[in-house]
Amino acid sequence: MHVTIIGTGYVGLVSGACLSDFGHIVTCVDKDATKIDRLTRGEIPIFENGLGYLAERNVKAGRLSFTTKLDSAVASADVVMIAVGTPSRRGDGFADVSFVLDAAREIARDLKAQTIVVTKSTVPVGTGDQVEEAIAKLRGDRDIAVVSNPEFLREGAAIDDFKRPDRIVVGTTDERARHTMRELYRPLYLNETPILFTDRRTAELIKYASNAFLATKITFINEMADLCEKVGGNVQDVARGMGLDRRIGSKFLHAGPGFGGSCFPKDIAALAATGAQYDRPMTIVEAVMQKNTSRRFAMVERIVTACGGSVAGKTLAVLGLTFKPNTDDMREAPSLVILPALAQQGAKVRAYDPAGMEEASKLIPDMTCVSDPYACMDGADALIILTEWDQFRALDLARVKKALRSPVVVDLRNIYKPADMTERGFHYTSVGR
Ligand SMILES: NC(=O)c1ccc[n+]([C@@H]2O[C@H](COP(=O)([O-])OP(=O)(O)OC[C@H]3O[C@@H](n4cnc5c(N)ncnc54)[C@H](O)[C@@H]3O)[C@@H](O)[C@H]2O)c1
Repeated sequence: MHVTIIGTGYVGLVSGACLSDFGHIVTCVDKDATKIDRLTRGEIPIFENGLGYLAERNVKAGRLSFTTKLDSAVASADVVMIAVGTPSRRGDGFADVSFVLDAAREIARDLKAQTIVVTKSTVPVGTGDQVEEAIAKLRGDRDIAVVSNPEFLREGAAIDDFKRPDRIVVGTTDERARHTMRELYRPLYLNETPILFTDRRTAELIKYASNAFLATKITFINEMADLCEKVGGNVQDVARGMGLDRRIGSKFLHAGPGFGGSCFPKDIAALAATGAQYDRPMTIVEAVMQKNTSRRFAMVERIVTACGGSVAGKTLAVLGLTFKPNTDDMREAPSLVILPALAQQGAKVRAYDPAGMEEASKLIPDMTCVSDPYACMDGADALIILTEWDQFRALDLARVKKALRSPVVVDLRNIYKPADMTERGFHYTSVGR
């Protein structure tokens, strides 16, 4: 099958590499000529484990290519996927679908009559109708089927998630489109991945409902963590006790500084905006948004308290800047709020992150980045663990103690054990324990 993907970002590039690995002939299109140049030279513009190898293998096999030229790539396609960004619209929280609609208009005239257009971007309910309308208007016919096929991959585990998803959601009532989508995902179908066929609006809602539910789980356990601290409980054990119940499940029950990333914050804001638009307020989702925002400031206070009530003039060593491990994505990372707030209170922030420093130093003023975790701690007044990269889980604690000027550790990801740390002489603060 010939597949053309519009938008070669995290989702477009991973989808392109994986679909070509399934045997399809994939062309990834992007407006950003620098990105396409880099890809054509064999460089991968994002940090995602295994992606370089997968892309290279399929480029060599002649199944994957990159271009800025939309028309020829669209004209030869059986399936055109739209995987462009849908950021939050400034001010009102609605998702900005203008990139999706622009892409729909750009492809409209070059589509073959049998081609299926697939929206992979996360879009508010009803956007598929708008895409269909935009295409029909320019073509003067209604031959093109528009399908919703939301993507659920996680950055940092994107290839595995794409190739071994829990489910594939396909929103269309068009029989021909259903058949094409079944063929597109046939290798997964053979693996017994459930393919859930729904109408288009329902598929669009499933994506937002899923992200909002996961964000709610995180926010719930963060509130439980606060309660644990007050009453003397251990939130990790609470989460384990809850998670062993299969109706609840153990995932997304890790207390910490609140969620970030390119999806949850903007998606829950968009769902809340849709609820308000249709006069069906999403009050749980609204509470999650508020709680998650205030949590970042609560984490600032926690750090200040651990440092004896003031960070003025103190050097803070920060490990981890990205919103989660195994990605270079800095979008909505807690560090973007926490570190400037600490700097504003007079702290000198020195940070290390395995993949996010280049992007982070553009976004966080008054921060020095160093290329090694121990150099980061050298002479610092406290160590703050903000992201749980694997390499921070096994630090040489004797070396950490020697490097720090005072043995203060604030572990916002609960990767160390309080009793161990206290025994080693650290003043250790974590979350909900
Ligand atoms: N990043 C994730 O983990 C993830 C997971 C699931 C779903 N999503 C959703 O997938 C969509 C894409 O997210 P992303 O993180 O890959 O975005 P991204 O910002 O990394 O990539 C989008 C790309 O689209 C390109 N683009 C925009 N308009 C274009 C056009 N008209 N023609 C060609 N290229 C164009 C941009 O240059 C950019 O490279 C969003 O709706 C997002 O919510 C993202």
